[in-house]
Amino acid sequence: MTDTVNRSAHAKDTLVRKANDNFRVATELDSENGRKRYRLGQVSDFPEGHHEVVVVGARQIGVFNIKGTLYALPNICPHQTGPVCEAKVLTGSLTADRESDFKPQWVYDNEVVVCPWHGLEYHVPTGQCLAYEHIKIRRYKVEVTGDDVILRV
Ligand code: FES
Repeated sequence: MTDTVNRSAHAKDTLVRKANDNFRVATELDSENGRKRYRLGQVSDFPEGHHEVVVVGARQIGVFNIKGTLYALPNICPHQTGPVCEAKVLTGSLTADRESDFKPQWVYDNEVVVCPWHGLEYHVPTGQCLAYEHIKIRRYKVEVTGDDVILRV
């Protein structure tokens, strides 16, 4: 019993940062098919080009509206657990390859979040780290039901 309480306290400390008390807090809904569901807010709370961190149970999840599509990623950078979704703006990235004769090309415009701790870039729609092919952030299923934005974990 004591061990369970201690582990629970540890999980709370490691999963939820205390950095910002202004985060929106999701409302837990009834589970569906064994998966927890949360209402993040109304559709109008997440307009195109907007992103913010929402507290979802014991997690902090970054919610992004990129070109009209909602994406949700954990606010934990795989590098050293930095608050990756707290980046102030989204950007794009430069790429150059043999096909373009190694001329730099701007790609993923307004689809890239840059971790504020050490600058690793992640493509939000795929969760892919642009510098390291083997690093990818998981994504949560986020959907719109009526006027509600619903997340499944
Ligand atoms: S913790 Fe995100 S780049 Fe290091």
